[in-house]
Amino acid sequence: MGGTNPYVKRPAPPTPTAKYKLTFLPANVTVEVDPAKLPYSRDGQKGSILEIALGHKIEIDHACGGVCACSTCHVIVRQGLASCPEATEDEDDQLDNAPGLTPQSRLACQTVPNGSCDVVVEVPGWNRNLVSEEH
Ligand code: FES
Repeated sequence: MGGTNPYVKRPAPPTPTAKYKLTFLPANVTVEVDPAKLPYSRDGQKGSILEIALGHKIEIDHACGGVCACSTCHVIVRQGLASCPEATEDEDDQLDNAPGLTPQSRLACQTVPNGSCDVVVEVPGWNRNLVSEEH
């Protein structure tokens, strides 16, 4: 899937303009995101936290395939939230269904950091999937 609901027409968020580091907690795995290498995988918006995670074999549950139609890809942005564009109304609507919601909560498939600073995200415990699917 490509990161957008095929039944909802809206522009894709801008991709990052500079390299930055993206860290996933609690695994404490850091990857360097290079805008020239996007996309790293096929699910979620191009350059989204989910897309980058899957491309580096970091599994985040994503029941709808990354098209903003569920809340299973919920992550908490611990650092670098300022580099993430504001959530759309559709993202906020889906997030409302996520357990453990915080002010820093985002959908990994819809959140595309702009590369202006490094980003740290926490994958909630209920969302850690021990089985990794190939993409
Ligand atoms: S995977 Fe369904 S909203 Fe992100």
